[in-house]
Amino acid sequence: MTDIPVNSHRISIGDSIVSMLLEKAREQERQALEKKEERLRPVFHFSNPTGWMNDPNGFSEYKGEHHLFYQYYPYATHWDSMHWGHAKSSDFIRWEYLPAALAPDEEYDSFGVFSGSALTEGEKQILMYTGVRELILENGEKKIFQNQCIAVGDGTDYVKCENNPVITSSLLPEGSSREDFRDPKLWKEDDRYFVVAGSRHKDGSGQIALFYSDDLEQWKLGSILDRSENKLGKMWECPDFFPLGDKQVLLISPQEMEADGLEFHGGNNTAFLTGTYEKQTMKFTREQVQCVDYGLDFYAPQTMLSDDGRRVMIGWMQSWDNPMYPPEQAWSGMMTVPRELIWKDGYVYQKPVRELEKYRRNAVNYPVVYVEKETALPGVSGRSTELLIKFTGKEYTKCRMKMAAENGYYSELVYDREDGILTFDRSHSGIRRDCICTRSLKLREKDKDLSLRILIDRYSIEIFVNEGEQVMTSLVYTPVSAEGITFSSNGRLCMDITKYDIEVE
Ligand code: FRU
Repeated sequence: MTDIPVNSHRISIGDSIVSMLLEKAREQERQALEKKEERLRPVFHFSNPTGWMNDPNGFSEYKGEHHLFYQYYPYATHWDSMHWGHAKSSDFIRWEYLPAALAPDEEYDSFGVFSGSALTEGEKQILMYTGVRELILENGEKKIFQNQCIAVGDGTDYVKCENNPVITSSLLPEGSSREDFRDPKLWKEDDRYFVVAGSRHKDGSGQIALFYSDDLEQWKLGSILDRSENKLGKMWECPDFFPLGDKQVLLISPQEMEADGLEFHGGNNTAFLTGTYEKQTMKFTREQVQCVDYGLDFYAPQTMLSDDGRRVMIGWMQSWDNPMYPPEQAWSGMMTVPRELIWKDGYVYQKPVRELEKYRRNAVNYPVVYVEKETALPGVSGRSTELLIKFTGKEYTKCRMKMAAENGYYSELVYDREDGILTFDRSHSGIRRDCICTRSLKLREKDKDLSLRILIDRYSIEIFVNEGEQVMTSLVYTPVSAEGITFSSNGRLCMDITKYDIEVE
């Protein structure tokens, strides 16, 4: 077998020694950020400085700030040789770009520095990622190998560990795939390090392996926490594993799922597997499968435990199968607003981080308003807007709400009260491609008053249903001047509505 040659040549920049590949990526970022951009950026969602972005990585606390890394190709707005981009924030909303953190500059990661996580150890920030390597076999065939690697740094510069890769696929149970073994989530508990990583069982479908180590170098397989058995999709990507309330959550992003009613759609999905965990035996017992997000654009979420004890999740606001971003935009991706996770009444609830509330301006409230024919309420409009709405009354069976509306453009939320179904539809958002535009969710309980919290940004709409019991996240690239919001109903609808502008100076 032979390796594809790698450009791992190193140069010294100030006090640090970085590879040429990483410095090239950083230079690309610097140049991109100096350019005046044609298109406006989202107001309160993170977007990458330039090029392509997918999964959030290394979402964690370091020296009192929130750090976010991400899958990144700085040179074009399509997926290619993966790097790690980097940013930090003190409030989860306003982000500061930091120089790209990792480049695929070693033999063992020359095909890409894939997803992973971060852990703070005193002054050090430890990154664990999947190093992907492509080898040419004797018969000329190219084969991918994925293993877990470590880099240690100071919040800006990272040095890859000499004995990388530290977790190789040889530790997996017999028959597991060597090609699909990725996305390590690292944490520390009682002086021991743990990692969960996605892999493929010999039956071809996903499994989550748990590893442990006392020194970050020697790793052992603890258990297979759970697996698909070809029921919940094929490969399971981007796992996370954490306690919430009195339950344990295994968060997964399965590929190639088959549609299941309105719960899961075909293709890439995300699920909270909730249950119990016995630490001694490293045994997870799944009790329930919950869809994380019912919208059109949500994948590969990752969580962190904030310094003040909140479990906060961020997701990539894009779909692999229907990637949506205008060709003239110099950057491709956005992340969701980080969400606090809460275990309540047998489910994981999601709420936008409370820090968003400090950016609320210009409140407008209508405590009781009746609507039948299409109505716009004075002061209720905008493209960087938060809405808190309660629909009450039983004199209607269907009501509609249009957002980002102007000149025939709109994205619509339709509530079928009788069937308890909520449908988001962006068919008229101005999209010029034949891509998927609608998705629906079934409310857990019909016939109770519906409460909605909606975050509208320049290019996205996130809908939190009934205090975050269910969520729908979708992109809409309608011209940003389309700020209209209207309501209509086939009978008398009663609403209590509050609107805020979200302003992030
Ligand atoms: C998920 C994913 C990960 C992988 C990364 C590559 O979106 O496929 O499994 O590490 O993207 O960019």
